[in-house]
Amino acid sequence: MADIHVVREELLPPVRPPRRHLIAITDLTRDDVERLLATARSFARSLEREMKKLPTLRGRTVVNLFYESSTRTSSSFELAAKRLSADTMSIKAAGSAVDKGESLKDTALTLAAYDPDVIVIRHPHIGAPHLVAGNVDAHVVNAGDGKHQHPTQALLDLYTLEQGLGRIERLHVAIVGDVLHSRVARSLVQALVLLDARVTLVGPPALIPRGIESLGCETSYDIRAIEAADVVYVLRMQRERMQDGANYVPTLREYTARWGVTPERLRPGQKVMHPGPMNRGVEIDPRVADAVDALITDQVRSGLVVRMAVLYDLLTHGPVEVKVAAMEEVA
Ligand code: CP
Repeated sequence: MADIHVVREELLPPVRPPRRHLIAITDLTRDDVERLLATARSFARSLEREMKKLPTLRGRTVVNLFYESSTRTSSSFELAAKRLSADTMSIKAAGSAVDKGESLKDTALTLAAYDPDVIVIRHPHIGAPHLVAGNVDAHVVNAGDGKHQHPTQALLDLYTLEQGLGRIERLHVAIVGDVLHSRVARSLVQALVLLDARVTLVGPPALIPRGIESLGCETSYDIRAIEAADVVYVLRMQRERMQDGANYVPTLREYTARWGVTPERLRPGQKVMHPGPMNRGVEIDPRVADAVDALITDQVRSGLVVRMAVLYDLLTHGPVEVKVAAMEEVA
């Protein structure tokens, strides 16, 4: 068994400098993204086995700290950590000492006392993950901060595109809807542009930020612009982030009539994605959400293996193909 280790260690490339945190897509190079996608593919293969748990992160601790509601991100990070045999703690702001007025810094310092290896944080305020990262020794992963970034959503979307369409480079993705309030859109544009995909943002003028073309995308206020795309990525209308009285769209009914994604507005075979949660009948017609060309459930499935890859990548170094294989042999 010792020989296997010697041979496999020889296959490892020079050690990369450790990456401390994943807070924004701009923290990643193209090589980083490609390595994470390859790692996720390896984990997807490991999940096809009857015994789905790997010992890879045994003895490590992952804290999930959620100040905003979440179904997909919180559950997939928790399951990802468990699949890799890490210990997990999940803390939701509601019902915690945050209700008694505890600050984010004090909550972070409290959790840091348990010596976690990773803190995954979702927070309604931009910059909250930076604040935590500046006060703890753990790696910090941004699970969504305000309308700023949601990097693991962008990575799981890339993974879904690669699996569903066989490539990312030169794909044309139309992202439709409330771009202004969307951390998903901002992260995904940056990730797609990094991998040489073409992106068109489509929506009402008030919901497309001025100057966003500087990220390397195109914009259109005409829903017919989605026809040319390979993939239509529908965004949620984020009513909770729209300031009272701000007139982004005349009414939701008007929004649906002009920018809702319906079967009539799609070409046959066009793939459709949505990060969830969906407002069925508002930004997406239920017939589109439930069609065979919708990749929405695939996105959820991708979330698990991509978040396994992110946790693994932060806590170890080297190609997962080799290390997972070695782990299986010694387990
Ligand atoms: N896409 C996404 O972040 O979903 P949740 O809010 O359910 O985590």
